Amino acid sequence: MKEKTNIRQLFSLAAEQNTFLKICAPMVRYSKLEFRSLVRTYGTDLAYTSMIMADSFCKSEKARLNEFTTNKDDTPLIAQFAANNTVDFLSASEMVYPYVDGVDLNCGCPQRWAMAEGYGSALLKTPELIADMLGTVRRNMPSSFSVSVKVRLLSSTNHKQTVDMCRQLESTGITFLTVHGRTAAEMTKVPVHREALQEIKQSLAIPMVANGDIFTLDDAEQMYSQTKCDGVMVARGILSNPALFAGHKTTPVECVKRWLNICQQADTDITYQCMHHHFSFMTESLLNKRLRLQLNNLSKEKQNVYDFISTHLPLDSVVDDNTFVHDYPPKIDCSYNDQIYRQRTAENGAGKDGGIVDGCAYDPEASDGNYFRSKREELDEPQAADDVAEEIDGVAFMDGGSLLFDE
Ligand SMILES: Cc1cc2nc3c(=O)[nH]c(=O)nc-3n(C[C@H](O)[C@H](O)[C@H](O)COP(=O)(O)O)c2cc1C
Repeated sequence: MKEKTNIRQLFSLAAEQNTFLKICAPMVRYSKLEFRSLVRTYGTDLAYTSMIMADSFCKSEKARLNEFTTNKDDTPLIAQFAANNTVDFLSASEMVYPYVDGVDLNCGCPQRWAMAEGYGSALLKTPELIADMLGTVRRNMPSSFSVSVKVRLLSSTNHKQTVDMCRQLESTGITFLTVHGRTAAEMTKVPVHREALQEIKQSLAIPMVANGDIFTLDDAEQMYSQTKCDGVMVARGILSNPALFAGHKTTPVECVKRWLNICQQADTDITYQCMHHHFSFMTESLLNKRLRLQLNNLSKEKQNVYDFISTHLPLDSVVDDNTFVHDYPPKIDCSYNDQIYRQRTAENGAGKDGGIVDGCAYDPEASDGNYFRSKREELDEPQAADDVAEEIDGVAFMDGGSLLFDE
């Protein structure tokens, strides 16, 4: 079993020091082990896995291998699951327990496919089901193990509804909760409702993490001082600048060099797509449009990307001390016991999806995903006048009803 970090204590320590936890958000496709290693070197206090489908995780060894990898330094770590029933969430939590410090339930994903299957923000319509899932996992896991949930606002005007729901979820004994300060219907161009976050925080005794529209450390500090939150979670901002929490306003070249080093060491553990997309995001502020287009359109050879980066960025200017040739620990060889899950599904009469399947249809390289596509389209196509202003803010891409998640 991996050495554990106590997340509750982490929050207490931050509070004692009058500060907040700096958190790298769960991001489908992107918050993988290698990226987590990178952001941890730049002041990230707590990292999440990408959202993992709990039912696939329980049923399929292949899904587990694809979706979850870790190493001994990969802590504090929370595994985020998408689940629409208690058996899947509990079983997935038990299986991943040896390798993480907590589990989180995704109640924020607004994508149509997720809503149709009762995942993500669809769950916000049935807070009693969320409470049942959280309460069951809480009762069945050691109290030192973090159990949390990530929600959105229920309404942009009536904050009482969201406050009531959060209090209901708090009463299940969860360790903390995260609120993305928008409703499921709101696109990222709608500013985050900070007053709602502040009201929710005031009504809770457990720590609250605030999420949405953080692009610099100053933004995070403002969020902390305005809402009195206990942690600030960042998604798009940390993709564009993995060194954000260390106070860098844009990606420093040394960060690109670290990423190159991590990818070369990870070798086949990281897909071409994941490696390449991260380079594209983090070099956006460092390359002109022509070079960004060129980078986005490289043929699918990792070496081409490494050569491109070495040619067009002044990597040699980075003082080459040992920090950049850091040896990353090997992946842990995770083994999972799915017996209890098999028993539970057998007892429940295993409906049409309840059987164990060996294998998983998910192919991480099957498509570029919405997030990367939307960025690529920004480069390829002339912008509508309205969108140009947004691009200047660096928030042009993604989110809202259809693009929030990548897949
Ligand atoms: C590429 C991408 C993938 C995401 N994947 C997830 C996910 O797996 N789970 C989740 O709860 N939220 C996911 N989100 C939403 C973010 O965690 C976050 O709530 C949202 O982007 C708002 O934060 P931001 O303004 O810092 O981007 C994703 C966002 C992006 C941009």
